[in-house]
Amino acid sequence: SSENVNVRGALIVLEGLDRSGKTSQCSRLHSYLAEQGIPAELWRFPDRNTCVGQMISSYLANKSQLDDQAVHLLFSANRWEKRSLMENKLKSGTTLIVDRYSYSGVAFTSAKGLDIEWCKAPERGLLAPDLVLYLDISPEEAAKRGGYGGERYEQLEFQRKVSQQYRILRDGTWQIIDACLPVEDVEKQLRKLVFDCIIACRNGKSLSPLL
Ligand code: TMP
Repeated sequence: SSENVNVRGALIVLEGLDRSGKTSQCSRLHSYLAEQGIPAELWRFPDRNTCVGQMISSYLANKSQLDDQAVHLLFSANRWEKRSLMENKLKSGTTLIVDRYSYSGVAFTSAKGLDIEWCKAPERGLLAPDLVLYLDISPEEAAKRGGYGGERYEQLEFQRKVSQQYRILRDGTWQIIDACLPVEDVEKQLRKLVFDCIIACRNGKSLSPLL
């Protein structure tokens, strides 16, 4: 019906430590939304397909060295370069399921010892997520899952620091999901939260900037 013309999609972000199961839950959510006939796309940050993304990717693979501040700003620029497309997609009714966002940016860089407010500053003005789903797992449990790919941050000691930073960042609006539950249980919880969020956005919840 013509009522659907102005309906917007939801900006849904999954966060968590490396090996928390974000990526597979993102693709499960994407298939679920497709089955429901809800227009949705799967996004991820860093988006390694852009020029900036390639610089980040080479840094993560230890093929290049960059100062902590420089790489932080590249991660942020990588979100900024996708901002207008993101807004257009949302406004045209597409829901975005995003694997990592600004919170990863702040958690990972501040885990290196950089000032958290400095880390947040370049994120201000990006689109605020409608829902943040945090897949909660201890660094020790995540490490037991194995398969750390050997990229720069995939080490237990560093993941412990990242975990502490995520703890500082969380607020009452985040949904914390126990990532140690069976995959299907996690999936079930996520489906419900995502579905409700999409409905709230359809019903007029407005898009706002990240503060
Ligand atoms: P990925 O494994 O999800 O592709 O992410 C690559 C790594 O980059 C992961 O260890 C988290 C880290 N990261 C940051 O340090 N800052 C950011 O802004 C983002 C999105 C990821």
